Amino acid sequence: MKIIDKQIIGKDKNARIVQIKVYSPLIAGQFRAGQFVIIMVSRESERIPLTIADSDIKTGAVTIIFQELGYSTKLLGSLRKGRSLYALSGPLGNPADISNYGKVLVVGGGVGIAEVYPVVKALAENGCRITAVLGARTKSLLILKDQIRGYCEKTFITTDDGTIGKRGFITDVLKETLKKNSDFNLVYCVGPVVMMRKVAEMTKVYSIKTKVSLNAIMLDGTGMCGSCRVKLGNKTKLCCVDGPDFNAHCVDFDQLLLRQDRFLEKEKLIKKIFKQ
Ligand code: FES
Repeated sequence: MKIIDKQIIGKDKNARIVQIKVYSPLIAGQFRAGQFVIIMVSRESERIPLTIADSDIKTGAVTIIFQELGYSTKLLGSLRKGRSLYALSGPLGNPADISNYGKVLVVGGGVGIAEVYPVVKALAENGCRITAVLGARTKSLLILKDQIRGYCEKTFITTDDGTIGKRGFITDVLKETLKKNSDFNLVYCVGPVVMMRKVAEMTKVYSIKTKVSLNAIMLDGTGMCGSCRVKLGNKTKLCCVDGPDFNAHCVDFDQLLLRQDRFLEKEKLIKKIFKQ
């Protein structure tokens, strides 16, 4: 559980995206695209669920990419190479549904691109022809663009400020792409909940099978606490054991958004206490 490599791969004045490689041969050997780990930085710290971006069986390295947002991810981001994590469990969750879908459209927003990356790799290795739409707030926060481009037939980039690619939102590029060509057999999307909701609405019009990887708040990550429950139609599912990938056209995104905000007040209080 030692951090064997650490790099800052995205940065602007408000945010940092950190990539760490953790030595864990067991997890590296078992990992399949779409799965995640739960990390505890110290005995007292909260459990942080993070998607595995990559793994290397030869070196036993598990690559994890995260944006420093709250107290716990900032604490994780402060660890130097050579330090060990208090706990690391995984791989957790179901692997993404990978097979040869033919033409696939992959949509990644912000740090969600790190979650899209292993799925793109696995889909390409299974013969899919991939078009990717990647978006970030600004050029310096756009991660893994070249790595993903290497597996895709076409890659479209968009940033809110136009510092790279087209200025605007992912959904603008998606709208144009689908207007020209809507014969995709699968859309796989990861990013902010609001973006995933919009993508789901757009692909529903064209009846394209769409999967989203949901980032509901998790506690134990093993189906025991119910924290990560999401509504799909009239069914309740647990992100950690039933997901994290779900049919986007069935997800109740409004309920998910409400549940995502339930610790906001506590997070503000922690920020105040630690003067972040
Ligand atoms: S995190 Fe507890 S049930 Fe999923």
